[in-house]
Amino acid sequence: MDGAAISFDPRTPEAVRDPYAALRPLQEHAPVYWSDALGAWCVTRYDDIQNAFRDPRLSSDRIRPFIAQAAEHIKDLVKPLGDHLEMWAVFNDPPDHTRLRGLMNKAFTSRAVDSLRPNIAEIVTDLLDDIERKMAATGSREFDFIRDFAYPLPATVIADMLGVPRKDVDLLKNWSDLLAKFVLTSRADPERYRLAAEGVMEMEAYFRDFVDSHDQTQVDVTTGLVEARDASDRLTPAELVANCVLLLFAGHETTTQMLANGTLALLRHPEQFADLRANLDDVDLIQNTVEEVLRYDGPSLSMVRVAAEDFDWQGQHIKKADRIFLFMCQGNRDPRIFTNPDVLDIRREDAKKNFTFGYGIHFCVGAPLARLEGEIAFPLVFKRFPNLELVNPDPPWTDSILTRGMIEMPVRA
Ligand code: HEM
Repeated sequence: MDGAAISFDPRTPEAVRDPYAALRPLQEHAPVYWSDALGAWCVTRYDDIQNAFRDPRLSSDRIRPFIAQAAEHIKDLVKPLGDHLEMWAVFNDPPDHTRLRGLMNKAFTSRAVDSLRPNIAEIVTDLLDDIERKMAATGSREFDFIRDFAYPLPATVIADMLGVPRKDVDLLKNWSDLLAKFVLTSRADPERYRLAAEGVMEMEAYFRDFVDSHDQTQVDVTTGLVEARDASDRLTPAELVANCVLLLFAGHETTTQMLANGTLALLRHPEQFADLRANLDDVDLIQNTVEEVLRYDGPSLSMVRVAAEDFDWQGQHIKKADRIFLFMCQGNRDPRIFTNPDVLDIRREDAKKNFTFGYGIHFCVGAPLARLEGEIAFPLVFKRFPNLELVNPDPPWTDSILTRGMIEMPVRA
């Protein structure tokens, strides 16, 4: 079979439900595949994805070309979004990326992450208490794992990390959701753009005030960023604000999806779940479980890069400005790297090789925090609700091409 015989559209209901089955023929027969449906290249093999992540011909600047090519009637709507997003580290190449990332690394220290450990455990416990109270009040043992747990946890943790008051979490979550409608979808929808632009401007104003009045004696990431800015003079006030918004945004929905997709995978594999439940104090096994659920069905479907020049790759001719989707989810299921890749195995020794946090210079800044949240949350949830089960064995998925998450996940405790 060659690429011409394969038809791949990531938006069909079958592909949304099971992207791995839809991507498997590409990985086997057409590793660099042109999708008419996406108007872009799709890359699915582990080695190719790894090479792509470190190839300087593949640019991370996908915002400036998008704004430049936007249709006339939406240009005014997307301009304020573009002005803001162009300052995010994740959408920049060296040397700007190096400068922004260096400052972020200085602020996002292991001390700042570690200092959140007790807070995370406390937030998890409070959420589980709330769920139990609600169940007692309604007489039902059912709740929505996403709405009641996986969604509020990361938002509260990030607010603590930045030093933002917890009372503002709902406000920030709302803005972040509006922005997600722009960043995480490739559909041209003026109403989405308008809402996202409004959200970004409100979020910018919020963070400007927040940074200006921030108590610099607090040990948090904002203190670190302000110190890094003042010490080096290499971060403009607008960049500081934009990268606070990035941190808030990037660690929010992804972590929700890690917790929910991971729990779904475990509940669908009773023998794995039983092994885990019998060993909830085994920190190594818990950490490996976090890696394996990230590999098996993590939040990252794909990342986009843009060709900075013409070149040939795996028998295909890539043209300057072509978009390339790196399907990390399928790289995580590459049988050339992982034995029995479609099997969930919480004791898999090389689970940590997964691409779910990316690879190379843009490797996720928040990976230690997300991993810590998983490491703390999974044992506390399963100790509290050892008989957790799915109410709907086949929950509905969102149709994003970049991230993989469920719309809802009803469970019974
Ligand atoms: C399970 C949860 C998470 C997943 C799956 C995830 C995934 C990713 C991926 C794939 C990238 C690389 C993007 C690229 O190559 O273009 C990335 C970058 C990034 N992530 Fe995460 N992330 C998660 C949690 C977090 C958290 C908790 C934070 C912060 C609080 C965070 C902040 C960032 C930032 C700032 C970048 C940009 C890094 C750069 O461009 O140098 N992420 N993340």
